[in-house]
Amino acid sequence: MQHWNSYWSNTKTLNSFAEGQQQHGYSGDIAQFWQAILQPVAENSTIVDIATGNGGLAVLAQQHNASFNIIATDAADINPLTLFSPSDDCYPALQQIQFMANVPTEQLTLASNSVDLVISQFGFEYAPLAAALAQIHRVLGKKGKFIALVHSQHSFITQDCQDGATVLQQLLQTDGLLSQLMQFANLCQALATETQLSTAQQQQFSEHNTALLQFFRQTQQQFTVQNQQEWFNLIAKDLVPLIMNWQSLTSATVDKTKQNLQHFLQRIQDQIASAWTNQRAEEVKALCQTTWQQVSVEQMQIEEGVLCWIVQLQK
Ligand SMILES: C[S@@+](CC[C@H](N)C(=O)[O-])C[C@H]1O[C@@H](n2cnc3c(N)ncnc32)[C@H](O)[C@@H]1O
Repeated sequence: MQHWNSYWSNTKTLNSFAEGQQQHGYSGDIAQFWQAILQPVAENSTIVDIATGNGGLAVLAQQHNASFNIIATDAADINPLTLFSPSDDCYPALQQIQFMANVPTEQLTLASNSVDLVISQFGFEYAPLAAALAQIHRVLGKKGKFIALVHSQHSFITQDCQDGATVLQQLLQTDGLLSQLMQFANLCQALATETQLSTAQQQQFSEHNTALLQFFRQTQQQFTVQNQQEWFNLIAKDLVPLIMNWQSLTSATVDKTKQNLQHFLQRIQDQIASAWTNQRAEEVKALCQTTWQQVSVEQMQIEEGVLCWIVQLQK
């Protein structure tokens, strides 16, 4: 969970697309889907957003209807109010939502039959399926509904994550760019203690610097797929200033950067592993048909292609 804990506590974003426009909350097709779901929900309903992250969907629901009693759970150590301030649009909603950190979906601590609607945006699929479904079923009251948008193996999001994972793995491999950067940082740190560099030291630095920049370009050129190039450029944006400001470059800085990238890779790998295939969707349908009154699992298609699965269950 450390990779999610550090992401949610250090990134001022409402959801896991921190690099995109969705960081300020859901918009476009996803927001429209949820607005339509929430429209007929009765005033004062109790709604639980599972695997909420920093509460992107919970905020959308709370802003949709202030009378909703929203509870937002996640297995990670979330506390979004510490990141946002009263000047942020989402702040009043965040204040109203009851966040419950360190609560895995498969171990929901809420009372049985206490919830009207359970919702999830790219979160339910991260938990062990049967145990999570059993808990959701338990907490829902009579005729309660569970509605989730679930990652698909066939979506453009998963394709994008696969490209991201390829790039990150390459940069983090034993003799990859990050390890070259670490060697450079060790040299910079050693030279920084000198009051004046000798000619030999200047030459040593210059050779290392040239070799690193060459390695950087070689790595960049290895990515021939356009989306992988974009991933490389996104990551390089944080690496270039480290090399440029070599006077203050330390091994600790590179270690920190490496750890952030490792966490990023883990989050992406989690996403890829959680995404459902057609077969998985069929298995889920079969499993649910024995315990739920109404079961629907279908693919959501938007202009860009397959977005996700839509899961709708009624108790
Ligand atoms: C892709 S993020 C989605 C977060 C949020 N719903 C959003 O739309 O941004 C997946 C979330 O699942 C959470 N998670 C992973 N395993 C979980 C589990 N077993 N139970 C509950 N949450 C879990 C992670 O901590 C992370 O916050």
